[in-house]
Amino acid sequence: MSTTEGVKIPIPGPTEATSLVRGPSQEQGVTFQLMMAVGTAVIGSLQFGYNTGVINAPQKIIEGFLNDTWNNRYSEPIPATSLTTLWSISVAIFSVGGIFGSFSVGLFVNRLGRRNSMLIANVLAFIAAGFMGFSKLAVSWEMLIIGRFIVGLYSGLSTGFVPMYVGEIAPTSLRGALGTLHQLGIVIGILMAQVFGMESIMGNSTMWPFLLGLTFIPAVLQCILLPFCPESPRFLLINCNEELKAREVLEKLRGTEEVGADMQEMKEEARQMMREKKVTILELFRSPLYRQPIFIAIMLQLSQQLSGINAVFYYSTRIFEKAGVSQPVYATIGAGVVNTAFTVVSLFIVERAGRRSLHLTGLLGMAFSAVLMTVAMALLDQLPWMSYVSIVAIFSFVAFFEIGPGPIPWFIVAELFSQGPRPSAFAVAGFSNWSANFIVGMTFQYVEQLCGPYVFIIFTVLLLGFFIFTYFMVPETKGRSFDEIAAGFRHDAGEAGEKYAPDEMNNLGGADSQL
Ligand SMILES: *[C@@H]1O[C@H](CO)[C@@H](O)[C@H](O)[C@H]1NC(C)=O
Repeated sequence: MSTTEGVKIPIPGPTEATSLVRGPSQEQGVTFQLMMAVGTAVIGSLQFGYNTGVINAPQKIIEGFLNDTWNNRYSEPIPATSLTTLWSISVAIFSVGGIFGSFSVGLFVNRLGRRNSMLIANVLAFIAAGFMGFSKLAVSWEMLIIGRFIVGLYSGLSTGFVPMYVGEIAPTSLRGALGTLHQLGIVIGILMAQVFGMESIMGNSTMWPFLLGLTFIPAVLQCILLPFCPESPRFLLINCNEELKAREVLEKLRGTEEVGADMQEMKEEARQMMREKKVTILELFRSPLYRQPIFIAIMLQLSQQLSGINAVFYYSTRIFEKAGVSQPVYATIGAGVVNTAFTVVSLFIVERAGRRSLHLTGLLGMAFSAVLMTVAMALLDQLPWMSYVSIVAIFSFVAFFEIGPGPIPWFIVAELFSQGPRPSAFAVAGFSNWSANFIVGMTFQYVEQLCGPYVFIIFTVLLLGFFIFTYFMVPETKGRSFDEIAAGFRHDAGEAGEKYAPDEMNNLGGADSQL
């Protein structure tokens, strides 16, 4: 790459690098340009959250549509088993779309750039909105299912595009806080779906097609705003070799002309990429350099989904019903509000406490809440007031999720991998996340039938397992550059790592001493 050829960049040690980024200019880190770009990107997260939550509130109503459609075609009411099958497919096909979408992220981001990829993905949102919105008019559940699949594709792409774009335009000191905005977008989307899905608003037999088709409005908004957002400076510098453009974008984003530190970090990354090159998914698992980080990335994604959070979001109304709550719909919306509130809380504490501690706190708190939930369900027959305990338990379950397992896995992936392996790493992480999402969504009902009130014990065991894993295996990534984190793994990989990257180890010099 000619941008760095022949230029001997003095590589600062970890301490100096940090002080360069976190100098007095830190307060100027948040600019209008940055907030606008981040805000526009997280519309994609909002879409994902909305479509996660939207189909569960009006379940009874849409089941009625399936029944009517069946009646229309075969002149008989739908058999219960066919109804369950069609309903399950309509829900779960979203995750299947998500799997394909998340796996395709790498195909887009390196060719089209991060911003244009987000722009083009909106075509899928428009098509999906059309299919879902007109499915009732066309008397076709096929259109509903195709629409759910396509909006799943869109969501899978978004969960890759958004954290990557946000992570690449954010200054190191704000990467954590801004990364949490992806999660905030998701939970606001879920909450909006819960509120709009109330029977008095759009969760009724005439309005539900609008409820599902509403997904085209954020898509229009994003198409209008994205052209005013800059391309990721990392993409411009490293993929396109456009140093001037990258600097220009950085100056706008940072609101200052002193972007030397950022440029240097990216150039150092570019230099490494000349050795690293692009890393394929297969290489991620083969190379001893990446095996440990990718294993950690996968486990963190699994810890998010297998924590049981989606069991709560898909079935909370049912869970509250079983726990004897008299107004389960409002308790569900309450869970959505707690969810959003604690995402905001985590936004403010994430930089202070560090990702690892937050993830550990969240997992332990969720495990405790799950035990409380089990106790409340088990004692419900003797003590009717246990229904209030179950509300507290679910609320604290959701709150602790947003402290740790909700936001942390997504941007730890961004922080564990540098430019070369990052797109592949995101694809693998996304694939793991969606697959686990699919498994929980499909199996929770059956497992619950088997275990009754003790279903949350399973999540307790899983949560404690992930706690132990995180405690022993996950490094702190807070305030460290990609290089420093990568150096830590090379250090761990020992002799195996040495024969792959002796130069980087020398270049980074003192990085190891910080560990
Ligand atoms: C389908 O609708 C008919 C009335 O049209 C109703 O009698 C029947 O119970 C419904 N079936 C299911 C499984 O909800």
